[in-house]
Amino acid sequence: MAIATGDLITERSLAVLRDGQSPSGAFVASPNFRVYNFGWLRDGAFCAYALDRVGHSAAAGAWHRWVQEAIERHRPRAEAVLALLASGETPPGGEMLPARYTLDGAIEHEDPVDPWPNFQIDGYGMWLWSLEQHLAGRAPDPEQMRTVELVGRYLAASWRLPCWSCWEEFNGGEHASTLASACAGLDVAARLLGEVAFADDAEHIRAELRSRYVTDGYVALSPGEKRVDSSVLWLGVPFGVFAADDPLVVATVDEVKRQLIGPSGGVYRYRGDTYYGGGEWLLLTSSLAWHESVAGSGESARELRRWVREQARENGDLPEQVTGASQFADDVEPWLERWGPVATPLLWSHAMFLISEAVA
Ligand code: BGC
Repeated sequence: MAIATGDLITERSLAVLRDGQSPSGAFVASPNFRVYNFGWLRDGAFCAYALDRVGHSAAAGAWHRWVQEAIERHRPRAEAVLALLASGETPPGGEMLPARYTLDGAIEHEDPVDPWPNFQIDGYGMWLWSLEQHLAGRAPDPEQMRTVELVGRYLAASWRLPCWSCWEEFNGGEHASTLASACAGLDVAARLLGEVAFADDAEHIRAELRSRYVTDGYVALSPGEKRVDSSVLWLGVPFGVFAADDPLVVATVDEVKRQLIGPSGGVYRYRGDTYYGGGEWLLLTSSLAWHESVAGSGESARELRRWVREQARENGDLPEQVTGASQFADDVEPWLERWGPVATPLLWSHAMFLISEAVA
């Protein structure tokens, strides 16, 4: 389905993405939520993909150039970490490549009062996934190939290191969705560079997921867990770590629906989430809608998309989450006091909305 022109939320989504892109090409996570004033590779990968899907490829291209420049600027850091890993040492998280950069592509100074973990590898896999979608069959240019090669080596060397999850939480440091992103990135590096070794690394990750992360036939959020995390949805759609109709993906998506659809119809991140009380997340609800459309479950996708639309503010802004049916009502207020209202608009919520509409 083509996205509807003249539709308030669609138009607002395009405007939020346009206005949230800095002249450098970076997408800010949210323009008016102090702590989200950075460019995350994770959020940006989906913003760029959404823009490609709706015909704004130039803006997507500007983001990919920003990522490439930011990574190249920090090549010495990446090479130093790779050398340490090759010698059998484990670098401290603070020396790894960051999850987010300033909008100018620098590494932020850690806030001494309210430090925020920045070592996550999933965004690098997501960048490669999004880049391949952007190239749409074109060969990368030599400069791009150089950066893709570096990121491929970085992912191959670091995917086993315990790191923070896509939600910036540690929980033991092993996360199915981080592995899914790394696997997707390595598959892309293998295809774009014709480098079989990266495909082998991706296979090792698949084997690890199947051997250590599967509980009762579905992929749990971490080894030995019964809980799922909605980010495991990405294993099938869009990362293709396993096919969307692979029994493992089907069982995992069923489990996400069983454990994580909230009473109002939106999707939680995981059971036990306390961030702003652990409410229902718009981008995850759109993500499930995306899977459902690909899987041919049109009615379910429509219902999920309807729920997302119902959460829009009057001007069409989409928040990160809604707290009306949060898991821990008492935990909402402390976050409001600490960081202010829930991030609104969140660019990633708008991106996932556009994607869910475009694929329907
Ligand atoms: C989320 C991350 C996200 C970041 C910026 C965090 O609260 O956990 O997944 O990348 O916000 O949107």
